Amino acid sequence: MIIAVDGPTASGKGTIAKALAAHFGLPHLDTGLLYRAVGRQVQLNGGNPDDPADALAACGFADSLLDDEVLRSEEVGGFASRVSVHPPVRRALYERQRAFALQEGGAVLDGRDIGTVIAPEAEVKLFITASVAERARRRWLEMTGRGSDVTLVAIEADIAARDARDMGRADAPLIAAPGAVLLETTTLGRDEAIAAALAAVSAHFR
Ligand code: C5P
Repeated sequence: MIIAVDGPTASGKGTIAKALAAHFGLPHLDTGLLYRAVGRQVQLNGGNPDDPADALAACGFADSLLDDEVLRSEEVGGFASRVSVHPPVRRALYERQRAFALQEGGAVLDGRDIGTVIAPEAEVKLFITASVAERARRRWLEMTGRGSDVTLVAIEADIAARDARDMGRADAPLIAAPGAVLLETTTLGRDEAIAAALAAVSAHFR
């Protein structure tokens, strides 16, 4: 069984994907980390994330980079969003994601284009959303909890810019796949969102 979980940043899709993977005993891939690694590698190379050649050159990042905590920063998230608009970058990361999706026994993948591009044949597709204000609040709590002194206003502007870039790009824009179950998490707590996702997946097999 392939479960595709897509949605914008801080919508809760990562938490939901992890919980579904644990519940069904499936391996999980956070595909955003791959784009974050490319963004970080461009930075390490002293390149420009808006330059397709610099971005493509960074796709050969070492796997050990995927474990680097710095990938979780807002700065690297912004770089990831900028490198991800280049079609050659998306092509370079395609096979790795596709192979993960097709492994024997199935998998859970979360990202922006899992249900539309990486695994359109997924048995279950979820599209997770929440308001910009709520997503900014969640990200702000997470970051200030880690000791960062970012402001809520700055995070909200950042998230809005990232949404616009992810939804507006020509190649694999962020959009709900046909047949995806929409899950709006603005007013849901963590456990409620997970329960709603589990119910949606279970309903699919009833
Ligand atoms: O999900 P996360 O915030 O870690 O993703 C970082 C960036 O990587 C996103 O803003 C998006 O631009 C890009 N991305 C993508 N396709 C995916 C996953 C992430 O374009 N499947």
